[in-house]
Amino acid sequence: MTARVLAGPPAAEVLLQDAAARASRLPAQPSLVIVRVGDDPASVSYVRGKARKAGEVGLRGTVHALPEATSQADLLAVIDSLNRDDDVNGILVQLPLPAHIAEMAVLHAIDPRKDVDGFHPLNVGELWAARPALTPCTPAGIMFLLKHYGIAVAGVRAVIVGRSHLVGRPLAALLLNADATVTVAHSRTHGLPSVTREADLLIAAAGCPGLITPEMVKPGATVIDVGINRVPGAGGRSHLVGDVHPDVSGVAGALTPVPGGVGPMTVAQLLANTVRAAELQHH
Ligand code: GUN
Repeated sequence: MTARVLAGPPAAEVLLQDAAARASRLPAQPSLVIVRVGDDPASVSYVRGKARKAGEVGLRGTVHALPEATSQADLLAVIDSLNRDDDVNGILVQLPLPAHIAEMAVLHAIDPRKDVDGFHPLNVGELWAARPALTPCTPAGIMFLLKHYGIAVAGVRAVIVGRSHLVGRPLAALLLNADATVTVAHSRTHGLPSVTREADLLIAAAGCPGLITPEMVKPGATVIDVGINRVPGAGGRSHLVGDVHPDVSGVAGALTPVPGGVGPMTVAQLLANTVRAAELQHH
Protein backbone atom coordinates (compact mmCIF):
# COMPACT_ATOMS: atom_id res chain seq x y z
CA MET A 1 0.00 0.00 0.00
CA THR A 2 1.23 3.51 -0.65
CA ALA A 3 0.37 6.50 1.46
CA ARG A 4 -2.24 9.04 0.43
CA VAL A 5 -0.42 12.11 -0.91
CA LEU A 6 -1.27 15.31 0.96
CA ALA A 7 -0.45 17.85 -1.75
CA GLY A 8 0.12 21.43 -0.60
CA PRO A 9 -1.08 23.47 -3.60
CA PRO A 10 -4.83 22.60 -3.48
CA ALA A 11 -4.98 23.36 0.26
CA ALA A 12 -2.90 26.53 -0.19
CA GLU A 13 -5.30 27.67 -2.90
CA VAL A 14 -8.26 27.49 -0.49
CA LEU A 15 -6.33 29.49 2.10
CA LEU A 16 -5.28 32.08 -0.51
CA GLN A 17 -8.80 32.50 -1.85
CA ASP A 18 -10.10 33.12 1.65
CA ALA A 19 -7.30 35.66 2.28
CA ALA A 20 -8.08 37.40 -1.04
CA ALA A 21 -11.80 37.61 -0.24
CA ARG A 22 -11.10 39.05 3.22
CA ALA A 23 -8.56 41.50 1.77
CA SER A 24 -11.16 42.80 -0.68
CA ARG A 25 -13.48 43.69 2.21
CA LEU A 26 -10.87 45.89 3.93
CA PRO A 27 -10.88 49.69 3.52
CA ALA A 28 -7.33 49.62 2.08
CA GLN A 29 -5.18 47.08 0.24
CA PRO A 30 -3.18 45.09 2.84
CA SER A 31 0.53 45.70 2.55
CA LEU A 32 3.42 43.39 3.44
CA VAL A 33 7.06 44.51 3.58
CA ILE A 34 9.71 41.79 3.49
CA VAL A 35 13.13 42.89 4.71
CA ARG A 36 16.09 40.93 3.41
CA VAL A 37 19.69 41.51 4.49
CA GLY A 38 22.43 40.17 2.22
CA ASP A 39 22.23 37.95 -0.84
CA ASP A 40 21.87 34.38 0.41
CA PRO A 41 20.54 32.71 -2.79
CA ALA A 42 17.86 30.64 -1.00
CA SER A 43 16.59 33.75 0.82
CA VAL A 44 16.55 35.80 -2.40
CA SER A 45 14.42 33.13 -4.06
CA TYR A 46 12.03 32.61 -1.08
CA VAL A 47 11.51 36.35 -0.66
CA ARG A 48 10.83 36.87 -4.36
CA GLY A 49 8.27 34.04 -4.27
CA LYS A 50 6.49 35.53 -1.25
CA ALA A 51 6.26 39.01 -2.81
CA ARG A 52 5.03 37.62 -6.14
CA LYS A 53 2.31 35.55 -4.45
CA ALA A 54 1.21 38.61 -2.47
CA GLY A 55 0.54 40.47 -5.73
CA GLU A 56 -1.38 37.50 -7.14
CA VAL A 57 -3.94 37.59 -4.33
CA GLY A 58 -4.45 41.35 -4.25
CA LEU A 59 -1.97 42.32 -1.54
CA ARG A 60 0.85 44.80 -1.88
CA GLY A 61 4.12 42.91 -1.39
CA THR A 62 7.34 44.93 -1.24
CA VAL A 63 10.89 43.68 -0.78
CA HIS A 64 13.23 45.96 1.16
CA ALA A 65 16.70 44.61 0.31
CA LEU A 66 19.66 45.75 2.42
CA PRO A 67 23.36 45.01 1.88
CA GLU A 68 25.09 42.22 3.82
CA ALA A 69 27.17 44.83 5.72
CA THR A 70 24.10 46.64 7.13
CA SER A 71 24.62 47.36 10.83
CA GLN A 72 22.16 46.20 13.45
CA ALA A 73 21.40 49.85 14.27
CA ASP A 74 20.56 50.61 10.64
CA LEU A 75 18.31 47.55 10.39
CA LEU A 76 16.52 48.58 13.61
CA ALA A 77 16.02 52.06 12.16
CA VAL A 78 14.38 50.54 9.07
CA ILE A 79 12.07 48.45 11.28
CA ASP A 80 11.21 51.52 13.36
CA SER A 81 10.15 53.44 10.28
CA LEU A 82 8.05 50.49 9.03
CA ASN A 83 6.44 50.23 12.50
CA ARG A 84 5.41 53.89 12.26
CA ASP A 85 4.12 53.69 8.69
CA ASP A 86 0.31 53.26 8.77
CA ASP A 87 0.39 52.04 5.17
CA VAL A 88 2.37 48.95 6.24
CA ASN A 89 0.29 46.15 7.81
CA GLY A 90 2.84 43.34 7.94
CA ILE A 91 6.61 43.21 8.45
CA LEU A 92 8.73 40.12 7.87
CA VAL A 93 12.50 40.06 8.35
CA GLN A 94 13.80 37.07 6.40
CA LEU A 95 15.97 34.73 8.47
CA PRO A 96 18.76 33.84 8.81
CA LEU A 97 20.38 37.25 9.31
CA PRO A 98 24.13 37.88 8.90
CA ALA A 99 26.13 36.77 11.95
CA HIS A 100 26.88 40.34 13.15
CA ILE A 101 23.17 41.03 13.75
CA ALA A 102 21.41 39.68 16.87
CA GLU A 103 18.28 37.98 15.59
CA MET A 104 16.44 38.36 18.89
CA ALA A 105 17.01 42.13 19.04
CA VAL A 106 15.48 42.43 15.58
CA LEU A 107 12.47 40.19 16.26
CA HIS A 108 11.77 42.12 19.50
CA ALA A 109 11.77 45.41 17.59
CA ILE A 110 8.91 44.53 15.23
CA ASP A 111 5.52 45.93 16.29
CA PRO A 112 3.70 42.77 17.54
CA ARG A 113 0.60 43.88 15.62
CA LYS A 114 2.60 43.81 12.37
CA ASP A 115 4.53 40.64 13.24
CA VAL A 116 3.24 38.36 10.46
CA ASP A 117 5.88 35.73 11.36
CA GLY A 118 4.52 35.47 14.91
CA PHE A 119 8.08 35.45 16.29
CA HIS A 120 7.76 38.42 18.69
CA PRO A 121 7.79 37.20 22.32
CA LEU A 122 4.34 38.72 22.91
CA ASN A 123 2.88 36.61 20.09
CA VAL A 124 4.84 33.55 21.25
CA GLY A 125 3.37 34.03 24.74
CA GLU A 126 -0.18 34.47 23.44
CA LEU A 127 0.20 31.27 21.40
CA TRP A 128 1.29 29.26 24.47
CA ALA A 129 -1.53 30.85 26.47
CA ALA A 130 -3.97 29.52 23.82
CA ARG A 131 -4.93 33.06 22.73
CA PRO A 132 -3.08 33.23 19.42
CA ALA A 133 -3.36 36.32 17.21
CA LEU A 134 -0.51 36.01 14.69
CA THR A 135 1.04 32.54 14.57
CA PRO A 136 4.18 31.33 12.77
CA CYS A 137 3.46 30.55 9.11
CA THR A 138 4.81 27.02 8.68
CA PRO A 139 3.08 25.56 11.76
CA ALA A 140 -0.18 27.41 11.06
CA GLY A 141 0.00 26.26 7.42
CA ILE A 142 0.43 22.65 8.59
CA MET A 143 -2.67 22.96 10.80
CA PHE A 144 -4.64 24.26 7.80
CA LEU A 145 -3.37 21.39 5.62
CA LEU A 146 -4.50 18.82 8.22
CA LYS A 147 -7.93 20.42 8.42
CA HIS A 148 -8.20 20.61 4.63
CA TYR A 149 -7.57 16.87 4.28
CA GLY A 150 -9.87 15.95 7.18
CA ILE A 151 -7.10 14.56 9.39
CA ALA A 152 -8.16 14.43 13.03
CA VAL A 153 -5.94 16.14 15.60
CA ALA A 154 -7.98 16.10 18.83
CA GLY A 155 -6.99 13.22 21.07
CA VAL A 156 -4.30 11.81 18.75
CA ARG A 157 -0.68 11.17 19.67
CA ALA A 158 1.42 13.74 17.81
CA VAL A 159 5.21 13.50 17.76
CA ILE A 160 7.25 16.40 16.42
CA VAL A 161 10.91 15.75 15.62
CA GLY A 162 12.68 19.12 15.90
CA ARG A 163 12.42 21.91 18.48
CA SER A 164 13.16 25.02 16.42
CA HIS A 165 11.59 28.40 17.15
CA LEU A 166 10.31 28.53 13.55
CA VAL A 167 8.54 25.16 13.46
CA GLY A 168 8.84 22.58 16.26
CA ARG A 169 7.99 24.74 19.28
CA PRO A 170 5.12 26.77 17.81
CA LEU A 171 3.65 23.65 16.17
CA ALA A 172 3.67 21.94 19.58
CA ALA A 173 1.58 24.82 20.95
CA LEU A 174 -0.88 24.75 18.03
CA LEU A 175 -1.35 20.97 18.27
CA LEU A 176 -1.80 21.22 22.04
CA ASN A 177 -4.36 24.00 21.58
CA ALA A 178 -6.15 21.63 19.16
CA ASP A 179 -6.27 18.89 21.85
CA ALA A 180 -3.53 16.57 20.56
CA THR A 181 -1.23 14.74 22.98
CA VAL A 182 2.11 16.23 21.99
CA THR A 183 5.68 14.97 22.27
CA VAL A 184 8.59 17.08 21.05
CA ALA A 185 11.61 14.92 20.20
CA HIS A 186 14.98 16.24 19.03
CA SER A 187 18.62 15.36 18.35
CA ARG A 188 19.26 14.42 22.01
CA THR A 189 16.18 12.20 22.39
CA HIS A 190 17.07 8.67 23.58
CA GLY A 191 15.58 5.87 21.47
CA LEU A 192 14.03 8.12 18.82
CA PRO A 193 12.49 5.25 16.76
CA SER A 194 10.47 3.97 19.71
CA VAL A 195 9.16 7.52 20.30
CA THR A 196 8.22 8.18 16.66
CA ARG A 197 6.54 4.75 16.37
CA GLU A 198 3.99 5.91 18.97
CA ALA A 199 2.78 8.69 16.67
CA ASP A 200 -0.58 8.77 14.90
CA LEU A 201 0.65 12.09 13.54
CA LEU A 202 4.40 12.40 12.95
CA ILE A 203 5.95 15.73 12.00
CA ALA A 204 9.54 15.71 10.77
CA ALA A 205 11.11 19.14 11.23
CA ALA A 206 14.73 18.39 12.05
CA GLY A 207 16.46 19.55 8.85
CA CYS A 208 18.08 16.15 8.44
CA PRO A 209 17.67 14.46 5.04
CA GLY A 210 15.99 11.04 5.15
CA LEU A 211 16.01 10.94 8.99
CA ILE A 212 12.62 9.23 9.25
CA THR A 213 12.85 5.67 7.91
CA PRO A 214 9.98 3.17 7.54
CA GLU A 215 10.70 1.27 10.76
CA MET A 216 10.24 4.55 12.70
CA VAL A 217 6.63 4.95 11.52
CA LYS A 218 3.47 3.35 12.89
CA PRO A 219 1.57 1.69 10.01
CA GLY A 220 -1.18 4.03 8.79
CA ALA A 221 0.20 7.15 10.52
CA THR A 222 -0.02 10.61 8.96
CA VAL A 223 3.48 11.93 8.26
CA ILE A 224 4.17 15.63 7.65
CA ASP A 225 7.58 16.34 6.12
CA VAL A 226 8.82 19.87 6.88
CA GLY A 227 12.38 19.22 5.70
CA ILE A 228 13.75 21.27 2.81
CA ASN A 229 17.26 19.90 2.32
CA ARG A 230 19.28 20.69 -0.76
CA VAL A 231 21.47 17.69 -1.58
CA PRO A 232 23.86 17.09 -4.48
CA GLY A 233 22.26 15.07 -7.26
CA ALA A 234 23.30 13.46 -10.52
CA GLY A 235 25.21 15.63 -13.01
CA GLY A 236 26.29 18.11 -10.32
CA ARG A 237 22.73 19.49 -9.95
CA SER A 238 21.31 19.77 -6.45
CA HIS A 239 17.79 18.74 -5.62
CA LEU A 240 15.39 19.06 -2.68
CA VAL A 241 14.72 16.22 -0.29
CA GLY A 242 12.71 16.10 2.91
CA ASP A 243 13.44 14.71 6.37
CA VAL A 244 11.36 11.63 5.50
CA HIS A 245 12.86 8.73 3.57
CA PRO A 246 10.86 7.96 0.39
CA ASP A 247 10.25 4.34 1.52
CA VAL A 248 8.02 5.70 4.32
CA SER A 249 5.25 5.97 1.71
CA GLY A 250 4.94 2.17 1.98
CA VAL A 251 4.07 2.35 5.69
CA ALA A 252 2.36 5.71 6.32
CA GLY A 253 -1.35 6.23 5.74
CA ALA A 254 -0.82 9.77 4.43
CA LEU A 255 2.31 11.76 3.60
CA THR A 256 3.20 15.26 2.41
CA PRO A 257 5.57 15.38 -0.59
CA VAL A 258 8.76 17.48 -0.82
CA PRO A 259 8.59 19.74 -2.72
CA GLY A 260 4.88 20.56 -3.06
CA GLY A 261 3.74 19.76 0.47
CA VAL A 262 4.31 22.10 3.39
CA GLY A 263 6.24 24.75 1.38
CA PRO A 264 3.23 26.25 -0.44
CA MET A 265 1.29 26.29 2.84
CA THR A 266 3.92 28.52 4.47
CA VAL A 267 3.63 31.18 1.77
CA ALA A 268 -0.20 31.07 1.76
CA GLN A 269 -0.28 31.38 5.55
CA LEU A 270 2.04 34.39 5.45
CA LEU A 271 -0.45 36.20 3.23
CA ALA A 272 -3.36 35.06 5.42
CA ASN A 273 -1.45 36.47 8.42
CA THR A 274 -0.94 39.76 6.58
CA VAL A 275 -4.69 40.05 6.00
CA ARG A 276 -5.30 39.11 9.66
CA ALA A 277 -2.86 41.82 10.78
CA ALA A 278 -4.62 44.38 8.57
CA GLU A 279 -8.02 43.34 9.99
CA LEU A 280 -6.72 43.74 13.55
CA GLN A 281 -5.26 47.18 12.74
CA HIS A 282 -8.48 48.41 11.12
CA HIS A 283 -10.47 47.55 14.24
N1 GUN B 1 13.46 31.75 6.87
C1 GUN B 1 13.01 30.50 6.68
N2 GUN B 1 11.72 30.39 7.08
C2 GUN B 1 11.37 31.62 7.53
C3 GUN B 1 10.15 32.14 8.08
O1 GUN B 1 9.13 31.46 8.25
N3 GUN B 1 10.19 33.45 8.41
C4 GUN B 1 11.29 34.21 8.26
N4 GUN B 1 11.22 35.47 8.62
N5 GUN B 1 12.42 33.76 7.77
C5 GUN B 1 12.46 32.47 7.41
